[in-house]
Amino acid sequence: MIEPCTFVIFGATGNLSQIKLLPALYHLEEAGKLPDGMKILALGRREWDSDNWREQVKGYLENKARGGINEKVFADFCERLIYFRGDLTNPECYHQLKKLISESSELPDNIAFYMAIRPSEFGTVSQYLADAGLNQQESGWRRIVVEKPFGYDLESAQMLDQRMHKDFDESQIYRIDHYLGKGTVQNVLAFRFANILLEPLWNRNYIDHVQITHSESKGIENRADYYDGAGAMRDMIQSHLMQLMTLVAMEAPAMMDADSVRDEKVKVLKSVRPIPQHAAHAHSFRAQYTHGTVDGEKVGSYLEESNVPKNSTTETYAALKLYIDNWRWKGVPFYLRTGKRMAQNSSVISIRFKRPPQQLFKETQIQRFEPNWLVLGIQPHECLRFVVQVKEPGLEMKIRTTQMDASFCRASDVKLDAYEALLLDAIEGDSTLFLRYDEVNWAWKVVDPILKVWSMERDFIHTYAAGSWGPAEVNRLFDSDDQYWRNMVGEFEL
Ligand code: BG6
Repeated sequence: MIEPCTFVIFGATGNLSQIKLLPALYHLEEAGKLPDGMKILALGRREWDSDNWREQVKGYLENKARGGINEKVFADFCERLIYFRGDLTNPECYHQLKKLISESSELPDNIAFYMAIRPSEFGTVSQYLADAGLNQQESGWRRIVVEKPFGYDLESAQMLDQRMHKDFDESQIYRIDHYLGKGTVQNVLAFRFANILLEPLWNRNYIDHVQITHSESKGIENRADYYDGAGAMRDMIQSHLMQLMTLVAMEAPAMMDADSVRDEKVKVLKSVRPIPQHAAHAHSFRAQYTHGTVDGEKVGSYLEESNVPKNSTTETYAALKLYIDNWRWKGVPFYLRTGKRMAQNSSVISIRFKRPPQQLFKETQIQRFEPNWLVLGIQPHECLRFVVQVKEPGLEMKIRTTQMDASFCRASDVKLDAYEALLLDAIEGDSTLFLRYDEVNWAWKVVDPILKVWSMERDFIHTYAAGSWGPAEVNRLFDSDDQYWRNMVGEFEL
C-alpha cells in the first residue's frame, strides 16, 4: 500500500509540468495507481483559484491524454488538484505553505516537492524549504525531486550538491534522468541479467566496440535560452547517454535494490579512462547544424533560431569516445553521439562483435563479410536484433547478412511515458531509477576537461547540414578503418 502524500509542484504552469508531469499523473490516476487521499498542489504566481487551475489542467491534457480525456477519470483527478498562490523567491511563501499543509485535514503529511523550475533556482528553493522546516521528517516523509541539469559543470554540480545536502539527506533527494524511466532502457538490464546467453560474450574478448546514438530530427524548439548555454554534450551525453552506457557496461548487482544497482553504475563511471585536456580532440567532436531539409521541409540553421547569438559556437552535435578501464572492457571503445536536426529520430545501442578468428571461407567465393551486431532499439522503434551471417540458398557457398529480430512490444502494449514510472517510484520511495550524487559527479568528471577545452575554442565549430547524419569529420574518432556509425532508419539500419 502506497502512503498518500501531498505532491507539490514548483513551476506547475511551466512547460515540463504541462507536457510531462500532469499528463503522467493523470495517466497514473487512470491506471488506479495514485494512493487514495493523495493531493497535487500546484504552486504558481498567477491569481488563480483551484477551479481556474483545474480548467488549465484540462487544457494541458487535451492533446496528451491517451485516447482523449476520460471525464470520470478527470473528475477524480480534479479532486486531487489544488492551486496555491505563491512566489517561490519569497521565503514567506514557504511558511504559508507549511501552515497550509499542517493545518489542513485533507493534505497528507508526507510531502514530495517537485522542482519543475530553472536549475538556477534549485539551491534557493531547497534553502527556503529548509528554513521553513519543510525538510523535517517528524510528521511524515519529505522528498525533493530534482530535474536535470544537475549543475553546469563539475564545480557547479558540487556546489549545488553541498547546498542541497545542507538541507536534505541524500535519501530524500530524487534526481531524475528520465531515460531511466523508459521501459526499453530498463529492458537493457532485463536483457542482460535475466538471460545467460550473452554473458560469456559480453566483454573485451568478443566485443569490438559499442555505439550509443541519440539522434533527433527536431531542432532546439524555442529553448535557446537554455540550450545555447548547455549544448549537446551537457544536454544529452553527460546525462542520458552516459546512463545508457553504465547499463550496458555494469556488472550484475548483488541485488536489484537502489544502492546495489547504483554502486555498480558508479564503478563503471569511475573506471572511465580520464581524458586530459590535451587529448580532448582525439576523444570528442562537436558540430552545429546549418540549414538543410528535414522530412522534406527546408529548415534554417542553428544560428537562425530565435534567441541564438549570431556568433554562437554551441554544439548541437557531440560525439565522444570513452574507454572503460576494467577487466571486462579494457580496450573496447564506447562511442556516444547525439545531435539535433539529424536525419531521423532514433535512440539505439549497437554492439559490434569481433570477427571470427579465422576466415574459413576465404578460399570460396565469399568476400569479407560483416561481423555480428547486436542492436537494441530504444525509440521510436523498439527492437532487439542480432545481425548474423548465413549461407545464401544455391549451389555456391555464398554468405549473406540476415537478422534475428525480436520486437519488444506487441501492438496491444500500452506505451507508458517515462515520467509515469518515475513519479510513481518517487511517491513509493524507490530510488533505484534516480541518480545518486556520486553518479552525477563521476559523469561530470568525464566530460569536464572536454567542456573546458570547448569553452576556450570559441571561434570555430564544424557544421553539418540539417537533415543529415552529422559531419563526416567525426569519423576520425574511430579506432580502426572498418568501424563506422550504424544508423537506424525506421525499422531498418543503414
Ligand atoms: C532532454 C533534453 O533531457 O531529453 C532534450 O533536454 C532532448 O534536448 C530530450 O530532446 C530527449 O528525450 P526523449 O525522451 O524525447 O528522447
